[in-house]
Amino acid sequence: MFIFNTVDEIREFVRSVRASGQKIGFVPTMGYLHEGHLELMRWAKRHCDIVVISIFVNPTQFGPQEDFDKYPRDLERDAQMAESVGVDAIFKPSVAEMYPSGYCTYVDVERITEKLCGQSRPGHFRGVATVVTKLFNIINPDQAFFGQKDAQQALVIRRMVADLNMSMEVVTVPTVREPDGLAMSSRNVYLTPEQRQAALVLRKGLRIAEDAVAAGQRDTFAIRQLVVDTIVAEPLAEIDYVDIYSYPELEPVTKMSGPVLLALAVKIGRTRLIDNIILGVGDKCS
Ligand code: PAF
Repeated sequence: MFIFNTVDEIREFVRSVRASGQKIGFVPTMGYLHEGHLELMRWAKRHCDIVVISIFVNPTQFGPQEDFDKYPRDLERDAQMAESVGVDAIFKPSVAEMYPSGYCTYVDVERITEKLCGQSRPGHFRGVATVVTKLFNIINPDQAFFGQKDAQQALVIRRMVADLNMSMEVVTVPTVREPDGLAMSSRNVYLTPEQRQAALVLRKGLRIAEDAVAAGQRDTFAIRQLVVDTIVAEPLAEIDYVDIYSYPELEPVTKMSGPVLLALAVKIGRTRLIDNIILGVGDKCS
């Protein structure tokens, strides 16, 4: 497995792979890999000949009060994990390589970025769309793989790829969960054992909504309220948002007549966790 730090090096690698007619799968990450990332890489390996991942903690998608500085980083561990699932190359640029002095170009996806995480993290999706565009331009993959745990991010990337006529396919991979149901996230390492237990309330909220829909409930206000009541009963949890939108359009919806996205962002102590489920399609959150 190769590790490249510069745009020129990874481009050279990609050029040689392309010249031999091989299909490139790409998994962008911010590192501190977990089973959720490995699943994206396994999917990429199954669908493509060569798998490239990026490891880049992207400063432009973090707000000033967010955890950019303390975001966990461990290249040696990440490289071992990536190699264990057959990744062929890691692109790990520095911040200066991606945003050299004088940098001033950004990608803004409108409307669907104005709600959910876009509302509580202003500028977040502008940073994501910008870095992903740059990574796509550098790596030029045939397919790129994103986790459903970041449901809004996956929709934003799909929208951007369609709107900007980018010639690759975006593949969304189901959320990977710990055995007790907590969605895998690099930020789970911030949780104390007590907070880790309290964090299960996210999955509990999704389950309660799923059960209500299975029992015939279609009123999104009532479903949302059940989830809110479940989460506020956990003393360590503080709701950032609990929202329901039509899926994949992300339009407001009062009565379910098709698939909807129930998305949550909840702070457990200082750690903000997100999770979601698509209701109305027989999806399961366990
Ligand atoms: O999902 C992430 O880890 C990041 O938002 C991404 C897609 C790697 C862009 O920095």
